[in-house]
Amino acid sequence: MLKKLFIAGNWKMNKTASEAADMVSSLVDLLVGMESKAIIAVCPPFTALDRVSCILENTGIELGAQNLSDKEPGAYTGEISAGMLLDLNVKYVIVGHSERRQYYGETDQLVNAKAHMALKSGLKPIVCIGETLQEREAGKTMDVIKSQFSGSLAGISAENILNTTIAYEPVWAIGTGKNATPEQAQEVHKFTRTLLKASYGQEIAEKVIIQYGGSVKASNSRELMGMPDIDGALVGGASLDAHGFAELITNALKK
Ligand code: PGA
Repeated sequence: MLKKLFIAGNWKMNKTASEAADMVSSLVDLLVGMESKAIIAVCPPFTALDRVSCILENTGIELGAQNLSDKEPGAYTGEISAGMLLDLNVKYVIVGHSERRQYYGETDQLVNAKAHMALKSGLKPIVCIGETLQEREAGKTMDVIKSQFSGSLAGISAENILNTTIAYEPVWAIGTGKNATPEQAQEVHKFTRTLLKASYGQEIAEKVIIQYGGSVKASNSRELMGMPDIDGALVGGASLDAHGFAELITNALKK
């Protein structure tokens, strides 16, 4: 089935608003024409969303955020609501990134609540799942994927799963320069597709975008995106430089 690749850049805690504005201005010029061939999004830190949003207006490049609160607006110091993101034309939001699970104690239950809040508000969540090296070496990869899948996506309707992206990000491949091989990634993507089938049926399962994330770069994007169940990429380090990110996307489109 022909699906557009969905490539999103997760900038994590990098770039001031001014640096982000400079980078996105260059990126917009470099990506002219490509936005019709792939869905392309950047996910800057909250403090840069407003400026980046203005630059992206009418470019066809989408804006994403890296997190949101599971709560309605109110007395939650330091949190950011779905409505605040929508007001800045944010369309996508990453939830359950392994760094949030690992360093900020986010559980499947919280990730699930955030995904529901995003969907209910009209944001499209990118829900991250993935095993640690220890879990992979213990042969538990598929068990971990299954349990994060069920926990993080619990109660999401068939209609809403079509507005949800799943990102498979093996924790051992994130920021390490050591990507999963295309075959290793495909194996987990295929398994994830099977889980989608079991919950939502074949037709819907095939439409859901499953991104791969973990050391995707210009030199490996083509072969990773060439795998049948890999529909896009969630890119960290390699999305921070406009030329590098544009090259990564160009290569991915050659798949
Ligand atoms: P990386 O990060 O591309 O720097 O490995 C990916 C991610 O954490 O989303």
